Amino acid sequence: MTDPKRYTVTAALPYANGPVHIGHLAGAYLPADIYARWLRGKGKDVAFICGTDEHGVPITIKARKEGISPQEVVDRYYSIISSSFKDFGISFDIFSRTTKPIHHQTSSEFFKTLYDKGVFTEEETEQYYDEQENQFLADRYITGTCPKCNNDRAYGDQCEKCGSTLSPDELINPVSALSGNVPVKRKTKNWYLPLDRIQREFLNDFINHKTNWKSNVIGQCKSWLKDGLLPRAMTRDLDWGVKVPLDGIENKVLYVWFDAPIGYISATKELYPNDWEKYWKDKETSLVHFIGKDNIVFHCIIFPAMLHVHGGYIMPTHVPANEFLNLEGDKISTSRNHAIWLNEYLEDFPNRQDELRYVLNGIAPETKDSDFTWKDYQARVNNELCSILGNFVNRVLVLSHKYFAGKVQSYDFSNPKDLEILIEVKGYQKNIDKLVSEFKFREAQFELMAIARAGNKYITDQEPWHLIKTDEKRVGEILHTCLVLTHAFAVSAMPFLPFTSEKLFHFLNTRADTTLKGGIYLNQPTLLFNKIEDIQVEAQLEKLRIQANVNQIPLPKETLKALEPIKHNINFDDFAKMDIRISTITAAEKVEKADKLLKLTLDTGLDLRTVVSGIALDFIPEDIVGKQVCLLANLEPRKLRGIESQGMILMTEDTDGKLVFVSPSTLAANGATVR
Ligand code: MF3
Ligand code: ZN
Repeated sequence: MTDPKRYTVTAALPYANGPVHIGHLAGAYLPADIYARWLRGKGKDVAFICGTDEHGVPITIKARKEGISPQEVVDRYYSIISSSFKDFGISFDIFSRTTKPIHHQTSSEFFKTLYDKGVFTEEETEQYYDEQENQFLADRYITGTCPKCNNDRAYGDQCEKCGSTLSPDELINPVSALSGNVPVKRKTKNWYLPLDRIQREFLNDFINHKTNWKSNVIGQCKSWLKDGLLPRAMTRDLDWGVKVPLDGIENKVLYVWFDAPIGYISATKELYPNDWEKYWKDKETSLVHFIGKDNIVFHCIIFPAMLHVHGGYIMPTHVPANEFLNLEGDKISTSRNHAIWLNEYLEDFPNRQDELRYVLNGIAPETKDSDFTWKDYQARVNNELCSILGNFVNRVLVLSHKYFAGKVQSYDFSNPKDLEILIEVKGYQKNIDKLVSEFKFREAQFELMAIARAGNKYITDQEPWHLIKTDEKRVGEILHTCLVLTHAFAVSAMPFLPFTSEKLFHFLNTRADTTLKGGIYLNQPTLLFNKIEDIQVEAQLEKLRIQANVNQIPLPKETLKALEPIKHNINFDDFAKMDIRISTITAAEKVEKADKLLKLTLDTGLDLRTVVSGIALDFIPEDIVGKQVCLLANLEPRKLRGIESQGMILMTEDTDGKLVFVSPSTLAANGATVR
């Protein structure tokens, strides 16, 4: 396609079940933003689309753990994620959500169209069902023993110990994570997208023609096609998601990877209710998806297959997927909290968005995985942004104010030395355009810095600080030339360093689309960049170490809402009525026909007594014998399943919502009181 009429640029919809980190930014959102800003700078018609992906099982799991609704989970993270993106200048034209009615309507209609065309195959399969909770179990909701490594906490979709991909049928002794019961098999009907047929009819050809796609992307696509695609269920037996829009069908929703990419279309509709169609249906539109490598199959194969069988839609022109970003030599991990969260970065480095944008783009995992280290961040900020760019701009502006009170001197570029440098810079700008159009943003940024490097060399060679004693007019020319270079830099930097560009335009008292003229007055400059000190780097490294030890995701402050409010005040006597004693569990066994109950024997120091506790889903009896706990010893005894329970053990929850004992921090005497 030569020069499309317009562009639809999408960035993968992030799951609304956690904040976003630097890996997300480097992988998809920053390159997408650079591309969209660059297109706009060229005067192109662009729709830059994103939003949160708010369906899927992980969100329901998180909600269950925290005892809140899935809607509350996604509301919380929608606001955190959207402000992070805003803070970093990611210039979406819309940042929508897949729980919006317009999306439910758009994706239902899409499904209905395929259904009415007879695209789907209906298949009845047997799935695990929890009879107590009355629902089918998503793969993640089934745990059991891994057939490969014997880990007894493997999930129905994978074993996190040995990394194998599993199906629920492979698990030995499957248990429902919802009730702890053994699930039964039940028949259920779902609708499948016949990817095998669509591969033959369309996908083989489609992928074979994409000769200009990145090799990492095309490689993955070809390997999927080589293995041969299988029909894939587009509906699931769940209740969180877009309801399957068929009469008489209850408790089924669209597969999250069916509805999510349609989210791009719904968001475009929301943005341009009247002319969204030209962004999706006009052959002269270029559709570009920015994603991470784990999303390749969905964007290059499944979504195009959906669009193809639907008909009327354009296909993606490019899918410039990135590889992964590591952190300090190790995989970024949200569960181990080995990550730099965007919201936290800005707390530690306020107003230093461009520094992070610059470093992340400088090391972007465009062709292979790459590594972010704080030392490298410091080096790039100090040696490149401060010493080259900041230094050049500062010298030019300070000298202009010092020698000419900030007034730009008139100049016609009659000196060939000055024309030469301007031509050199035009060359860099041309290279930037070519590289960005090929999605080589890293190299493009290198060419951008070449402008600042050239400027630095020019001003150093011309030595205006010496010339000022003898030839003030020439100094005016030199500084004018430097100001034009600064303006050129600011224009070219807009996609990469938008905050810095803004500042430069302010210093220059001009805009992107106006040229600098003699006679105007410059504004007072401030320092563009500050050095990153060793102590700041140390603090960040220490923070990563602490995070990893605590091994928990720092819950954003909003989480507090989900906690119970503090109860009414009581007086000390109210408290003193409770007799809490340190006790040791000496025996534990399951209570028959009660999945949640354990019968415990406790040594209170004064007696041995029986306590029935509702902790069977979280603990294996053998594991807790010998554990010291706190016992509310004077709670009125009561009968549970025919067993008299003489007291209550104090429990709390860990950060994953799992029950844990409240225990003394070192060995204490049984019978000691807690007060
Ligand atoms: N939520 C998915 C992820 O984070 C990406 C969805 S992209 C979309 O991996 F196209 F499906 F929207
Ligand atoms: Zn395993």
